[in-house]
Amino acid sequence: MMSKKKNSLKIIKSIQRMEKIALLIKGRGKVSFVPTMGALHDGHIALVKKAKKVANIVIVSIFVNPIQFSEKKDLKTYPRTLKNDIKKLKDLGVDYVFIPKAQDLFNQDFQTKVTVQNFQNHLCGISRKNHFDGVTTIVLKLFNIVKPDQAIFGKKDMQQLIIIKTMVRELNMDIKIIPHKIIREKEGLAMSSRNNLLNNSEKKLANNIYQGLKIAKNLYSRNKKVTSSYIKAALKKTYKDAGIKNIEYIEIMNPKQMSYPKKPSKKDFIAVAVRIGNTRLIDNLEF
Ligand code: PAJ
Repeated sequence: MMSKKKNSLKIIKSIQRMEKIALLIKGRGKVSFVPTMGALHDGHIALVKKAKKVANIVIVSIFVNPIQFSEKKDLKTYPRTLKNDIKKLKDLGVDYVFIPKAQDLFNQDFQTKVTVQNFQNHLCGISRKNHFDGVTTIVLKLFNIVKPDQAIFGKKDMQQLIIIKTMVRELNMDIKIIPHKIIREKEGLAMSSRNNLLNNSEKKLANNIYQGLKIAKNLYSRNKKVTSSYIKAALKKTYKDAGIKNIEYIEIMNPKQMSYPKKPSKKDFIAVAVRIGNTRLIDNLEF
């Protein structure tokens, strides 16, 4: 029988060491993996708790992946709170935190790219060129190093979740992808490492993102025949009236085909990206 004794967190920085450990623990039980870029908040924590629930060994990675950032400035300003992150993972009873270095993962000659072709040509993929190639490439690398049985991804990044599920299915990878609902702040704003970059008035403005999504969903709940374009126009007006001027996209999408239904159905979701000050924020809501 597995002992329930609380293990202490082991910090692994070397890829080779992580690979060795992954092979060693494989036989000891189910391994859950939560890949992150750090600056851990309650959204990440919820994923880790879920990981603990569904497996006996939990591995979290912290790596600010340079190849998924399209703007140098965004990479530079991305919040980094490693000390705090490690403390949180310790308190949660995580077994391993993997903190690789960029130069070890991507040497100068690195030339491989994993591409999920069609699904990246929507939503965030339109403005963030190469972003999803960067995500799939790092996630596949991390999966190969950590060798988990299952990995947890948040619905906060719905397109990312859909793309990773597609990669895993199409490349016959033996990993179960477990989605997790979006964790929100009290006022409804989806938790994000980028929220740290908002000042008080920007945060107030950002609270309208989710309020607007709820109004949009209500339009559908009240009238199942309403068209996507009607809902999108209404949400655009709600945002403009609230003072959110910089809207990158508002889309209603089917998650299976990444298609744009004329009239939404229950399985579809509405997704938005807006810029508040210098900070780009995304959110979505399932109908
Ligand atoms: P990061 O933004 O750190 O997010 C790590 C995981 O936490 C992702 O699965 C994301 O969807 C989830 N997450 C973030 N905020 C959440 C919230 N408010 N509620 C629920 N889940 C939330 O996503 C990435 O890192 C990277 O692209 C990564 C997959 C690690 C590859 O580099």
